Amino acid sequence: MIPFNLPYITGNEISYISDALASGSHAGNYNYNNRVKDLIFQKYGLEGVFLTPSCTAALEMGALLANIQLGDEVILPSFTFSSTANAILIFGAKPVFCEIRPSDMNIDVSQIEKLITPRTKMIIPIDYAGVPCDIDEIMIIAEKYNLTVMQDCAQSYGSLYKGEISGEKAHLACYSFHDTKNFSCGEGGALVVNKPEWRERAEYMAEKGTDRTKVIDGLQNKYSWIEKGSSYLLSDILAAMLLAQLEKEEEIKEKRKIIYDTYLSKLKKYESQGYFVIQHFEEYKKTNYHCFWLIFNSNRERELFIDLMKRKGIAAYSSYVPLHSSKMGLQLGYKKNDLPLTEDLAGRLVRLPLYPNLKTEDLESVIKATEEVLNEFKAA
Ligand SMILES: Cc1ncc(COP(=O)(O)O)c(C=O)c1O
Repeated sequence: MIPFNLPYITGNEISYISDALASGSHAGNYNYNNRVKDLIFQKYGLEGVFLTPSCTAALEMGALLANIQLGDEVILPSFTFSSTANAILIFGAKPVFCEIRPSDMNIDVSQIEKLITPRTKMIIPIDYAGVPCDIDEIMIIAEKYNLTVMQDCAQSYGSLYKGEISGEKAHLACYSFHDTKNFSCGEGGALVVNKPEWRERAEYMAEKGTDRTKVIDGLQNKYSWIEKGSSYLLSDILAAMLLAQLEKEEEIKEKRKIIYDTYLSKLKKYESQGYFVIQHFEEYKKTNYHCFWLIFNSNRERELFIDLMKRKGIAAYSSYVPLHSSKMGLQLGYKKNDLPLTEDLAGRLVRLPLYPNLKTEDLESVIKATEEVLNEFKAA
């Protein structure tokens, strides 16, 4: 079976992890945490980076930092992972779901303003498949209504928006380093606090509400309880693995690009023949090649495609079940047809295998199998 995803090992993980083990400092905020933050700063100029145990934790920490509370409303796409909504739901806020655009499956900015009420406090757009959302336009709306924007960049570390890393323009941004993502330490994430005036509180919040970092930095002898907080730290052992991955960012991106570009060049003609549509996005957005998707003409065709590919030994996958129509969404009072476009698109989308070590012959097999299935569709 050709799997949908396989984590990539760069080669330096074991030596860095051994070094972290030997250091005797295994908790968060030690050597490898600092080295990862330095690397991100050197490469992208990002300051205020907090490494977290997951993107889920980063989103929660961001919601805590933005003071999300009972009764607040937060606008987000329904086409996302549960964590985007849970991050605010656990603080008592209400997720208000917004429609997406078919071209890139990201939030449809033209639909945001009509969802804003006096209770709206935050917008959480996501970068689906590693393609940046329309952050400039979202920030203009946020400014107008005095809202915080927390960009869920779970899939888009290394993607660019107008030449800058995606996540650089929002007030807060969250990355994932889970093993399904381009750069992985098994489970991991980061919160970027782009508002300098929020960074001190963020330090306390990540360290269980204490000023422990001041002790680590040699500024104080003792630490104590200062703020609300939790444990939002990434162990230095995992940070060591993450450093090995991020040092090879360009190598990983290049390998993924070759696969992505091959899918694009071989399958584009079928888009013109009306079998499916593929992702389209503006020139000033550069993907990190997280994923390659197709949207078929119907849910029935999508299901048939997945099934026929499986029989040919290839794992092609659908994506999120829209949150408003999931079990939890229905419990919150949403109905299936509340967001008809999201519902329809999510039911027709399929993702093809894409990972750095996908062998050339396997890539060819996926394309050949896709073509065979399309021919079966034509014959039917
Ligand atoms: C949009 C989005 N947000 C958040 C997450 C959660 O990331 P993590 O597994 O690092 O918590 C995911 C996971 O796939 C995701 O797709």
